[in-house]
Amino acid sequence: MINPVLAEMAAYPFVKLEETRRALAARGVEVIDFGKGDPNEPTDPMIRQALIDALPVRAPYPLAAGLPELRESAARWCKRRFGVDLDPDTELIPTYGSKEAIFSLAQVLVDPSSDKRVVAYGEPAYPVYERGALFGGAEVRALPLRRENGFLPDLSALDERTAIVWVNYPHNPTGAVAPRSFYEELAARADELDFLIASDEAYTELWFSEPPPSALQVADRSRVIVFQTLSKRSSMTGYRSGFIAAPAVVIAALKAYRPTVGTAPQEFVQRASVVAWDDERHVEETRARYAAKRDVLLPAIAARGWEVVASEATMYLWLAVPDADAVVAQLLERGLIVSPGTFFGPSGEGYIRFALVPTLDECRRAAAILAEL
Ligand SMILES: Cc1ncc(COP(=O)(O)O)c(C=O)c1O
Repeated sequence: MINPVLAEMAAYPFVKLEETRRALAARGVEVIDFGKGDPNEPTDPMIRQALIDALPVRAPYPLAAGLPELRESAARWCKRRFGVDLDPDTELIPTYGSKEAIFSLAQVLVDPSSDKRVVAYGEPAYPVYERGALFGGAEVRALPLRRENGFLPDLSALDERTAIVWVNYPHNPTGAVAPRSFYEELAARADELDFLIASDEAYTELWFSEPPPSALQVADRSRVIVFQTLSKRSSMTGYRSGFIAAPAVVIAALKAYRPTVGTAPQEFVQRASVVAWDDERHVEETRARYAAKRDVLLPAIAARGWEVVASEATMYLWLAVPDADAVVAQLLERGLIVSPGTFFGPSGEGYIRFALVPTLDECRRAAAILAEL
């Protein structure tokens, strides 16, 4: 009765963390939750007001193509941020956050009956690339991401059966950034083996020293599909608003597929999203807040003798620790929730991840707890 893909799937890892959080809170332990990457930052008042102002008396079904104003603001942002020119009518489509669009990509672009049905992704990873590919009837291939390679995949491991390669830089969970040259190598390999590049760029705006590049910046974008979102950039996870930038043929396929699924963002959310994409001041403030939290935690982590690896961008700190399970348990005892690296795949062994989502005050308290361990 249940789809075997679902029946065989382990619980979404963060469901377990949430259970742990509740159990600790029920015992009266003060919990500081560095587990799930859901920003605790306030959404800028200007964006909230735009949502309120856009709320109509009656909200009709939103169309899959989205409001032209939103596609135009996304195109303007891509131009400002990455210097690329996109046609808002043929190369962009809004999404309901990026998760649903990441999940369904294989259903849109993979023929499960063909030999060319492998979806590859770096691992450790956000779990949705793999899960979406499995539900789409694709075959999955995890490419281990190792510290000695800067957490970049080994592209020589790919073959002709590859249909899609997922990349995610800045990377969740390691915080690694890919250099522009990596995207050029990937594009060259895509051309050689005839696959599409799906680049999940949820974290490009959360950086500490210099803005990371985008896969959109490669010389030949004809195989590049980029997923952007306001969730982390503008602390708007609950709004559900992102976009896909892709070649016209892919956007046309998405325009054919998405009306059946019904995942266009509400128009009042789209109007608030225009305000969000058009403004950088609130993003600068957000970056400053994450940097402050990071500055509080780094010395406390160093004093424990734990090593912070990669972590150049995103809201995550990726720590190499001697015995990850023991460290996670030790921190839990003191009310600090962190994710074991293995939540994100077997190559996460030996690491733990801190999501910098608690408040600055909570980070200070956590630093004090780390000092006492
Ligand atoms: C790597 C990565 N991609 C995509 C997403 C999805 O974000 P959203 O659906 O809110 O845009 C997340 C959320 O945590 C993420 O970590």
